[in-house]
Amino acid sequence: MPTFAPDILAAKVALVTGGGTGIGKEIARTFGRHGARLCIAARRQDVLEATKEEFEREGFECLAVPCDVRQPDQVERVLEETLARFGRLDILVNNAAGNFPAPMAGISYNGFKSIVDIDLLGTYNVSKAAFDAWLGEHGGNIVNISAPFEQMGAAYQAHVAAAKSGVNSLTRTCAVEWGPKGIRTNAVAPGAISDTEGLERFDAVDDASNLSAPLRRPGSKQEIADTVLFLVSDAASYVNGQVIYVDGGSGVDAMKLPPL
Ligand code: COA
Repeated sequence: MPTFAPDILAAKVALVTGGGTGIGKEIARTFGRHGARLCIAARRQDVLEATKEEFEREGFECLAVPCDVRQPDQVERVLEETLARFGRLDILVNNAAGNFPAPMAGISYNGFKSIVDIDLLGTYNVSKAAFDAWLGEHGGNIVNISAPFEQMGAAYQAHVAAAKSGVNSLTRTCAVEWGPKGIRTNAVAPGAISDTEGLERFDAVDDASNLSAPLRRPGSKQEIADTVLFLVSDAASYVNGQVIYVDGGSGVDAMKLPPL
């Protein structure tokens, strides 16, 4: 039995960047199951089209627009197409991100820049475009997908941790500047999540990493999607500017000891 009523997003329109795969796809699907109409935007057109068809088979209305979030002209086109198709926008999830585990000295100049451009500038680009095109006048919800390790030294993740620190900062600034416009902005920081490209890449570095959470298991994509659904729902109507860790308690585990 679903946790949330099936119609809590009825008549809402949601844009999910990186919505063709992984956590973004699960977020979009969860929104669809709760009544939202969807726009998914990501770089790979073939993957996007396959996901759109899958969603349509599940009965959701879905628009798929190819977009590299680093390119403002492509981002603006996504907003134009969303508004042309659905006539409104209620929810933006900035989920598109890049990642590869590498020690800092092993990341090339361009590799570091690529991740900051996708994760941080991409979040800024889409948020600004959505604000200008619709949200600034009508209000709505923004959820940024962050990372729980950005507050600590994060080996193999110098580029991502730096970018996600910026994402958390943007989250708080948007909450303050855009709150008066009726926009709530929050972030979700997923820990190790099973069946994702991110975890596969990390398993190559440390196959025990997903067992170190106090809950002794990785999270699921559905658990991230449900947290995002809560944040964009009226149940979270006074939650603004927060970064919610969905990491099984890893972020508060100072000692990392085996089970007591
Ligand atoms: N290890 C080290 N460097 C890497 C790398 C890896 N696994 N993957 C990419 N890079 C470097 C490239 O070598 C390049 O730097 P260079 O020009 O100095 O050689 C730079 O990053 C940009 O890579 P490129 O693939 O040309 O650019 P891109 O901007 O299209 O894509 C990524 C960058 C990171 C997004 C790409 O690796 C990718 O598509 N990853 C899969 C998707 C993903 O990251 N999903 C998120 C999982 S959590």
